[in-house]
Amino acid sequence: MLNIDKNDYIYKIYNKSLDLFRYENEINRNRNNESLYYEDLKNGCKQDRVNHKCEIEAKRFCKSIYQNLKMLKAHDVFIFEDNFNEENKKLTCQEKYITYERKEQLLSTINLIMDYQDKNNLVDYHPNVNNISGEIKDIVDKEIKAQQKKKWIFHKQKQEKQHNTADIVKIRNIIHQSLQPYHKDYINSSKQNEIEAYFKRMRKNNGYDQWGKECKTSFSNFLWLPAIFKYSEKNKMYEVEGKLFHPLEQCPELWKLKEELGHLLSYFSKPLQETHSYFKNLHYNLMHDHPESQISSIFDIKSKVDFSQKIHAIVKISEMEIAPNSIYSGQWHVEGFSSDNILYTCLYVIEQDQNLINGKLKFKRTPRSDDFPTPTNSQEEQGAHSYCPSYEYLCDPYKLIPLGSLEIKENLMIIFPNQNIHKVKGIKNMTDKPLKRKIIAFFIVNHEDQPFTVNDVEFIKPINVIKDYRMKDMYERSKNKQTESQSFDYCEH
Ligand SMILES: [Fe+2]
Repeated sequence: MLNIDKNDYIYKIYNKSLDLFRYENEINRNRNNESLYYEDLKNGCKQDRVNHKCEIEAKRFCKSIYQNLKMLKAHDVFIFEDNFNEENKKLTCQEKYITYERKEQLLSTINLIMDYQDKNNLVDYHPNVNNISGEIKDIVDKEIKAQQKKKWIFHKQKQEKQHNTADIVKIRNIIHQSLQPYHKDYINSSKQNEIEAYFKRMRKNNGYDQWGKECKTSFSNFLWLPAIFKYSEKNKMYEVEGKLFHPLEQCPELWKLKEELGHLLSYFSKPLQETHSYFKNLHYNLMHDHPESQISSIFDIKSKVDFSQKIHAIVKISEMEIAPNSIYSGQWHVEGFSSDNILYTCLYVIEQDQNLINGKLKFKRTPRSDDFPTPTNSQEEQGAHSYCPSYEYLCDPYKLIPLGSLEIKENLMIIFPNQNIHKVKGIKNMTDKPLKRKIIAFFIVNHEDQPFTVNDVEFIKPINVIKDYRMKDMYERSKNKQTESQSFDYCEH
């Protein structure tokens, strides 16, 4: 069920601020009644002390609420959970995720595909962006510099944290968007002009995307391509129409995987529609409050999307191997660029070694327009703002509103909007052997705004060329981040 965010954070802080304002007024009233002229100096000091006390209390309160929310079971997430208890909001590590009915069939089909990849030299381990070669790095650096000069004058580049998990986690891409993105250099397509026009339009949109995030597009025109899942009235399920994954189209067992993924997405489809009806009309405040926001508009057409007849989904299936005696954590991120137009993530942890423990998937979100109490002109409410953390404070990327977390273990199945940043925290392997987990993700695309799919292109260069280009795409994504703290890599759940 959809665990709705009741928006307690700002509301509670605001009410506390109001209380403190009243408390201060009360003190002042008493002071004025008792006050005599020669005591003013002494009272001035007292006033300072009261102010200081209120400020300290506001900060302490704010911190405690923030800590509290971090411990909750994730809000803004549809959780496939047995006996979901509305009252039980704490993350207890006792969550009972539903076991998907076709799990065994799906798992054995994935294993068949992996065997095929093993035998046909098609195994792909995710490259490390830090290994990028000099030439590609130079090209991307140049492009980014030029774009920044043109567009992001006010955007301050933050000092980047070093984050290299190459020794901790090895990721095998079974199906991955990075091996079949659109790029004009290696495809044939009757829709090439339309796709290039789409990029042009996205780049011109110097504003905010449908989630209120600063619109970020690929400078180098890479587009992650979804597969089409069409609803079949006859079979009462969604079915892959056309291609699923270019490097596997010759695999004789691929039809089985298409069928199983059709079943899985059909299982997701009702909750997806429920999640969409909740989020499609919510309005988000802007993440980066810089001068351009005055003239920019939010480009929001997500409410027009209807998933009842078709779903365009970028499919990803990966196997992660976590090194012995290590702890793996990812970075805060959303999926893709604005140009990839991803609305929701459907995630399923189909397999995870039970000795991989303590992992959490954490979520945070940007303030929404309905977070703030309706402004009135009353002096009391205005005064309360003196103890409210400022808008800027709330929008600090490290101070986004926490939405809680979920325990990462086998059978975790969730849907969440691509507005909310998320990160994997602390998956522990305390054994002496490497341990594995397998995940399936559907990144659901806004097909009204980005209608192009893998069926619209034909790949005309060998896979090695696409792999070389992938480094460029990865490096660019690592530099041209959508959020202040975007992952350097593709998403890692
Ligand atoms: Fe992710």
